[in-house]
Amino acid sequence: MEMTKNKIELISLKSDNLKSEHFANDILDGLSKKQKTIPSIYFYDKKGSEIFENICYLDEYYQTRAEAQILEKFSEKIATNSSKDTDIIELGSGSSVKTRILLDAYILKNGYVNYFPIDISGKFLLESSQLLSESLPGLNINPIAARYNAGLEYIFSKNDKSPKLVLWLGSSIGNLNKDESTSFLRNINSIFKENDRILIGMDLKKDRQTLENAYNDSLNITAEFNLNLLSRINSELSGQFDLSNFKHRAVYNEEKGKIEMHLVSLTKQDVFIGALNKSFHFEKDEYIHTENSYKYNFEDILNLAKDSGFKLTNHWLDDKNLFSLNEFIKK
Ligand code: TRP
Repeated sequence: MEMTKNKIELISLKSDNLKSEHFANDILDGLSKKQKTIPSIYFYDKKGSEIFENICYLDEYYQTRAEAQILEKFSEKIATNSSKDTDIIELGSGSSVKTRILLDAYILKNGYVNYFPIDISGKFLLESSQLLSESLPGLNINPIAARYNAGLEYIFSKNDKSPKLVLWLGSSIGNLNKDESTSFLRNINSIFKENDRILIGMDLKKDRQTLENAYNDSLNITAEFNLNLLSRINSELSGQFDLSNFKHRAVYNEEKGKIEMHLVSLTKQDVFIGALNKSFHFEKDEYIHTENSYKYNFEDILNLAKDSGFKLTNHWLDDKNLFSLNEFIKK
């Protein structure tokens, strides 16, 4: 008998808003503002997704290990409390390394699991999905290359009866401010049926040093990740950024409870971007704001659940109380 490898099909919902004109427009908008900015979604091309995987193994980046520890400890319970036909949907799945812990628990319990990873980087998602399915018998994987909303709409429009468990791990919620995260969760709440659930990984407020170290690692991988935005502009939009004229910086804004990622101009300079046929001026020390990572305390989490129409039904911590995994259920 001929052995055939399971062929994985990628559903690609990359609509207009991911095309290069859109990248060009967003860069034009962002770099024309008084406070220059680049939307953080552009971190995650294939190269960026690969660099981010390396961030997850850094000593200073405690978030991944802490969240994995929580999953190790509670996955069995989560799987046991779910019905057999639960669909697991993941927002921004990346390599699914941590998710595997939960998938294993479902497969151990039921023999199979239905998994719908959604990620913006199609190539990276397809490769990760192939590796995962080869090593995990019982996994029914349906990867979807899309932005969060398009991917969710696609899955929920099927309108089947399976209960949904959405995973939003890795402190990705931290990239949204309070209004943005509330309205995104409200939107999810409105497409959920009663008892559908979302598990959200949220990083906790803590001392400045620990936080700043997590985003300023000594191997400069985070710097490479941040600077990759400029490489992308160079290669995709014929930009002329000299990467050595910019430096990565991450600072904790305690008042707002967030880490801010910056790319700081080391000199006074003008940078030409071919696709926009335009130069952008930078003063020395002027910076591009590239990312926020909001941190939470218990009260913030309770308020977020309440304001978005959910009930906080579980709040799990790692053994050093660095990170939290939170279960929100539609009331
Ligand atoms: N969601 C991750 C976080 O906030 C993303 C992240 C980690 C990140 N390190 C980064 C984003 C550096 C930009 C730059 O923890």
